[in-house]
Amino acid sequence: MAIPLFHFVLILPFLASTSIFSSPVQDPEQVVQQVNQSIRNATIARRNLGFLSCGTGNPIDDCWRCDPYWEKNRQRLADCAIGFGKHAIGGRDGKIYVVSDPSDRDPVNPKPGTLRHAVIQDEPLWIIFARDMVIKLKEELLMNSFKTIDGRGANVHIAGGPCITVQYVTNVIIHGINIHDCKRGGNAYVRDSPSHYGWRTTSDGDGVSIFGGSHVWVDHCSLSNCNDGLIDAIHGSTAITISNSYMTHHNKVMLLGHSDSYKQDKNMQVTIAFNHFGEGLVQRMPRCRQGYFHVVNNDYTHWEMYAIGGSADPTINSQGNRFLAPDNVNNKEVTKHEDAPQSQWKHWNWRSEGDLMLNGAFFTPSGTGASSSYAKASSLGARPSSLVSSLTAGAGALVCKKASRC
Ligand SMILES: *[C@@H]1O[C@H](CO)[C@@H](O)[C@H](O)[C@H]1NC(C)=O
Ligand SMILES: *[C@@H]1O[C@H](CO)[C@@H](O)[C@H](O)[C@H]1NC(C)=O
Repeated sequence: MAIPLFHFVLILPFLASTSIFSSPVQDPEQVVQQVNQSIRNATIARRNLGFLSCGTGNPIDDCWRCDPYWEKNRQRLADCAIGFGKHAIGGRDGKIYVVSDPSDRDPVNPKPGTLRHAVIQDEPLWIIFARDMVIKLKEELLMNSFKTIDGRGANVHIAGGPCITVQYVTNVIIHGINIHDCKRGGNAYVRDSPSHYGWRTTSDGDGVSIFGGSHVWVDHCSLSNCNDGLIDAIHGSTAITISNSYMTHHNKVMLLGHSDSYKQDKNMQVTIAFNHFGEGLVQRMPRCRQGYFHVVNNDYTHWEMYAIGGSADPTINSQGNRFLAPDNVNNKEVTKHEDAPQSQWKHWNWRSEGDLMLNGAFFTPSGTGASSSYAKASSLGARPSSLVSSLTAGAGALVCKKASRC
């Protein structure tokens, strides 16, 4: 048996310091303005095109779903992202790789044609699926940089085993995949590139685990019922957009930020847009630490404990969301300021702008200027509500057929 050259613990600090992994901190206000402008542009385009338009006013979808030949132009999707993860190009500049074999028998020597064989390659690849399949992974799927997993045109489930890990890599797009019932893996060797494999300790059992990853875009995925988080981004991860996804049946939905003491996450920037947080969800949509979080035009129809929360002074910019509170009178609050007394959290910048509050939902703003933004938001009234339902109507993995609009 071959002896592994490196263990992850030894190689990763070195990789993390090399230049392709450093992500400049983007000017948050500028990115927020771009998101706003792209939503306005898409809304105006929809009005002008009238009934014949396939446009929904969702700027990501309107960028590609109107194209009946989406199947021939798959890589154009890479230019449709918005927000902090918009520069994620995935496998845009590489070949198409067709996954034809759902098996995952040997995570150290994956067979050509399997998803694992595709994602570990060094070259950029745009990965698609030959047919419908359920992929039950034996160990975490360790992605290499510059990869897109594109489930359009097939009904693809990654389920019942460990799921996706984006660790110290960059430029990853995950689109159109059903990710559910994810379990812990580990205490095993797993390959992460053609030239390297290493020992993995026990994994959390997240749907998508982003660890020191940057330029990551998760779009139109359906996620539910995993062992830990549906999507967790920790340990210096940044430049992330999570959009158009449909999440259900899960307790700790999204953790963004490693720990209260991990200061590197101050640079974390994440956009959460056009998602539907649906039935059976409990908390953390998301739970934020340290960084900047833009939560825009999502539909929150179910939470048991709270929707948006966090600790360690995160900035939370909530705009144009629809929050439908549960019937329980004790759980109407959207927000949860965690692990600090009010004397501290009153300085954290959390604001709500143009959010629609239903069934008694309320957002507790904090920080400088939050109360004036909040006052302005209330005067916007119900404006975003009609917008949010059409923007999020297609959330989750789509059913796309060749030669017709998706
Ligand atoms: C975009 O900006 C305009 C003007 O600044 C504001 O009225 C509108 O509510 C914003 N839209 C969203 C979706 O944030
Ligand atoms: C919005 O539309 C204007 C005019 O067509 C264009 O210049 C601008 O780049 C668009 N902005 C975004 C963020 O899509």
